[in-house]
Amino acid sequence: MPDRLQQLAELLSTEGFLSGQDIAKKAGISRSAVWKYIVRLRRYGYGIESRRGMGYRLAKTTDLPVPWELAKILKTSIIGKSQIIYRESIDSTQSLALRLAEKGGKIHGLVVIAEQQTSGRGRMKRKWLSPKGGIWLSVVLKPLVSLTMSTMLPFVAALAVCDAIRQSTKSDATLKWPNDVMMAGKKVAGILLDMSAEADMINYVVIGIGINANVETSKLKVDRQNKPEITSIRQSIGRDVNRLELTALVLEKLEMYYSVLEKYGSEPIIREWRARSDMLGKKVTVIQQDKTYSGVAADINEDGSLLLKTKDQEISIVSGDVIIN
Ligand code: BTN
Repeated sequence: MPDRLQQLAELLSTEGFLSGQDIAKKAGISRSAVWKYIVRLRRYGYGIESRRGMGYRLAKTTDLPVPWELAKILKTSIIGKSQIIYRESIDSTQSLALRLAEKGGKIHGLVVIAEQQTSGRGRMKRKWLSPKGGIWLSVVLKPLVSLTMSTMLPFVAALAVCDAIRQSTKSDATLKWPNDVMMAGKKVAGILLDMSAEADMINYVVIGIGINANVETSKLKVDRQNKPEITSIRQSIGRDVNRLELTALVLEKLEMYYSVLEKYGSEPIIREWRARSDMLGKKVTVIQQDKTYSGVAADINEDGSLLLKTKDQEISIVSGDVIIN
């Protein structure tokens, strides 16, 4: 099916107006099938003009990260090179990626993208609201890094998302521990890491990335205590971003930072992370399920934990939500 969609998108983009009959002939399908594909292409974000007596013409290409368009612009050598799976709606890209990773085969670099998730998952077993308009994707990797180093992978992904948003919006995005990407002090994207490992060997990891791109923030509101305030790129910059380009940038930067981690370890990743975070040196409250800590966010440790200076001690915190006071 996607192959056929791709074929039709390409047919329409090269030829100006084409009659339904010509399209049917060139694609080797029936005229009613042509109509169904035109409807589908429109749903996939293509602007297709139709004129009585002339046929169809591609007026605007899509800005959705559909695999064949992504493949045309993606400058990576691993991520997205073996397979990109795209779904209009799915329970969770993370769950599908995990199922595929478990099956094995050529999974290193596999990407699953969806326009909408019905059961998106967030950190700490939370729901992640994923309406149409966002970027919801999961990447499978078989990392060469050690199990200890794998705690850096969410930082690698957060850096990639932060840089990609900065580049595509020309606006500021910052990082908040552990892996939140922020715009104007509100959370715009989050990272989720799932992993399968035995002893000190990682079988695979699945990096889930959720970016509230072209979404109305009213669709992202959840009634949860202590949740960070949420925003979207649309809300933050007052216009939409091209999701196809932003997705390509995220995957390219993810591959770049991932290879930095493989080659040089966590030090350069933490250095870059610090440079994009505005929380270090500030008074923060760290909220865990059953505990709350207050202090100054002093630094990020080698293993990605947060070094917090409280009134009378220094503690390393491995998980929780941070509120900058
Ligand atoms: C967080 O809680 O900050 C992490 C959110 C991660 C959401 C992404 S969206 C794509 C992937 N699929 C999921 O179900 N979750 C992740």
